[in-house]
Amino acid sequence: MTMNAVSRRSFLQHAAAAASVMGLAGCATSSGKIRLRDTNTPAGASGSVWIGGDLQVNRIGLGTAGFTSRDGVPRDRNAIRAVLRRAIELGVNHIDTADVYGSNLVERFIAEALYPYPSDLVIASKGGQTRNRPETGGRDGRPEHLREACEGSLKRLKLEQIPLYYLHSPDPKVPLEDSIGALAQLQKEGKIRHIGVSNVSLAELAKARSLVSIVAVQNQYNMLLRDSDEIIDICERDKIFFIPFSPLGGRTAEVLTSQDDRLAKLQALADERHVEFSQIALAWLLARSPVMLPIPGTTQVAHLESNVAAGKVRLTRQELSLE
Ligand SMILES: NC(=O)c1ccc[n+]([C@@H]2O[C@H](COP(=O)([O-])OP(=O)(O)OC[C@H]3O[C@@H](n4cnc5c(N)ncnc54)[C@H](OP(=O)(O)O)[C@@H]3O)[C@@H](O)[C@H]2O)c1
Repeated sequence: MTMNAVSRRSFLQHAAAAASVMGLAGCATSSGKIRLRDTNTPAGASGSVWIGGDLQVNRIGLGTAGFTSRDGVPRDRNAIRAVLRRAIELGVNHIDTADVYGSNLVERFIAEALYPYPSDLVIASKGGQTRNRPETGGRDGRPEHLREACEGSLKRLKLEQIPLYYLHSPDPKVPLEDSIGALAQLQKEGKIRHIGVSNVSLAELAKARSLVSIVAVQNQYNMLLRDSDEIIDICERDKIFFIPFSPLGGRTAEVLTSQDDRLAKLQALADERHVEFSQIALAWLLARSPVMLPIPGTTQVAHLESNVAAGKVRLTRQELSLE
């Protein structure tokens, strides 16, 4: 047996023990379930998973919506470039974006900073939101729009295929069948590899799944906003990944600033362990379910490093409870 095999085995034993502490026992291997791999990158500390059975990502990714203001004004370009490049150095290989972020600007920033991409990088993008349709709350799920959005993202990201592409939000004026059908067609043409859905209800998820294979759901979820608990349980049961957006509470990082009593216990835990509260907030998500892949957004390298290091923080089942 090689040294590599020995260290791999001892890592897996250690990881299985950690998983058991987190309540993840029995979820250590096989496609769609958490696979704790022998990676030596900081972003691999919480394990890695296979999205859609063929895209291996470390569980902590990076969100990019905050690279511009809500009005689309870019933040400091050098700072953004530094965050993206440091993310790669740390082993972050799941970057979440959308055409609508900064009205196409953010996808360009990603390509400018990282192209040519590392071979294991999974860039997830989305189509179906626009700044031009106030009558639908900014949603546009028309097939012709989704095609244009996807083809635009391919160009800006300099990709031949987008590894994971989401319907950003169901459009109340377009049957979900039509929007999902458009993504199915793009998948058939090889323009997207896997399909995800975002901002969906349980019924919308079920409908989408009746039409195509959905590998990921991206809904808002954090310690304070737990509307998707039932969806997460279904994702876990059926091995669909759940990407909690706004894991720290969104642009205002509300989870970190809230005075909510439910968080007091976890603040005490952070103090006891000498870790940042933000790390406890991310560790809480990782412990909530093995299918959970947080994508905290940041424009600061120090915050990125802290968020990635949260993957080392383990919570017990008791600590996971906010009661
Ligand atoms: N599907 C959707 O509809 C949807 C909607 C919203 C977001 N998203 C995706 O989800 C990603 C994450 O959500 P989000 O960016 O809205 O919110 P978030 O990740 O919950 O929080 C981002 C905020 O937290 C701060 N922050 C990050 N790390 C920190 C740390 N270690 N300590 C203190 N503050 C920290 C950031 O400020 P600094 O920049 O100063 O670090 C920023 O203000 C987005 O970037 C986007 O990719 C998707």
